Amino acid sequence: MDVFNSISEIRQSRWADPTLSWGLVPTMGYLHQGHLSLVQKARTENDRVMATIFVNPTQFAEGEDLSSYPRSLKRDLDLLKEAGCDVVFVPQDSEIYPDGFQTAVSVNVITKQLEGASRPTHFGGVATVVTKLFNIAQPTNAYFGQKDAQQTIVLKQLVEDLNFNLNLVICPTVREADGLAMSSRNAYLSKDERNQAHVLFQALTEGKNLILKGEKNAAEVRHLMKKLIEQQPLAKIDYVSVANGRSLEELETIEDGEVLLSTAVYFGNTRLIDNIPLSL
Ligand code: PAF
Repeated sequence: MDVFNSISEIRQSRWADPTLSWGLVPTMGYLHQGHLSLVQKARTENDRVMATIFVNPTQFAEGEDLSSYPRSLKRDLDLLKEAGCDVVFVPQDSEIYPDGFQTAVSVNVITKQLEGASRPTHFGGVATVVTKLFNIAQPTNAYFGQKDAQQTIVLKQLVEDLNFNLNLVICPTVREADGLAMSSRNAYLSKDERNQAHVLFQALTEGKNLILKGEKNAAEVRHLMKKLIEQQPLAKIDYVSVANGRSLEELETIEDGEVLLSTAVYFGNTRLIDNIPLSL
C-alpha cells in the first residue's frame, strides 16, 4: 500500500494506467468498521482503492472539536492495508489549503435544515473539500456512509450540479451490538454516556415502527422519539426530525415516498447523529 502526502503523487498513481477503475473512500481518520466497510465495498467494485485521511478544518466551526478530533494514523494505515486499500492520501492542511486559497463551494438549499441549521458553515467545508478530493483523485466511484444522511444528499446534489464524472455509492450504517451507529466521536463518550447512547437508534427504530403500523401524523412520531430520548438523563436533544427524504423539509403528514427519520443528541459535549431512511 502506498501512502502519499502530495497531490502530484496521487495524480501520478491514479493515471499510471488510465484503463483501471478507482474507488475513493474519503475519511477524517480514526477509522472504525463503518469506514472499513466502505473500503471493503470499494475493493469489490474497483481495480484500485484509494482512501484519504484528512481532518478538514473548514467543516468545523469555531468552538467545535477540530483540535481534539481523535487521530491514530499508524493504526489507520494498518487497518486500511488489511482491508485491501492500494493508496492512501494523507495531506497536510497546506497541501489542501495553500496560502492564498480563496475558493468555496456551497450547496444552497438542502444545507439549511437539520445539521445545517445547527452547523451553518459545516456543509460549505464538506462540499469544498470533497470537490477538491474528487478533482485530485478523479475516482470512478466514491463511497460514503448513510450515517451522515444529509451529507449524502448534499454530495448527490454537488455531483449533479457540477457534473462530476463519477458514481456516488452510499453504504449502510454500521452499528455496535446495542445499535449505536459507529462514529469516531463515540470515543469521547464516558462510560455512563456510552451506556445511554443506544437511545438514538432505539428512538429511531420505535419511530419507524410507528410509521410502519400506519401513523400518518409526523408530530406523533417526533413526540414518541423525543419522549424516548428524554428518558436518558444524560441526553440533550438538538433535533428530532421526520422529513421528506429528498428535500429534508419537515413533514406534517407522512405520505408514500422517501422519509428520513433523524436525530442529533448531545451527551456532554459530544454530539451524536443517526438516522433511518424509509421508502414507503
Ligand atoms: O464524512 C466525513 O468523514 C467527512 O465529512 C468527509 C466526507 C471525509 C469530508 O471531510
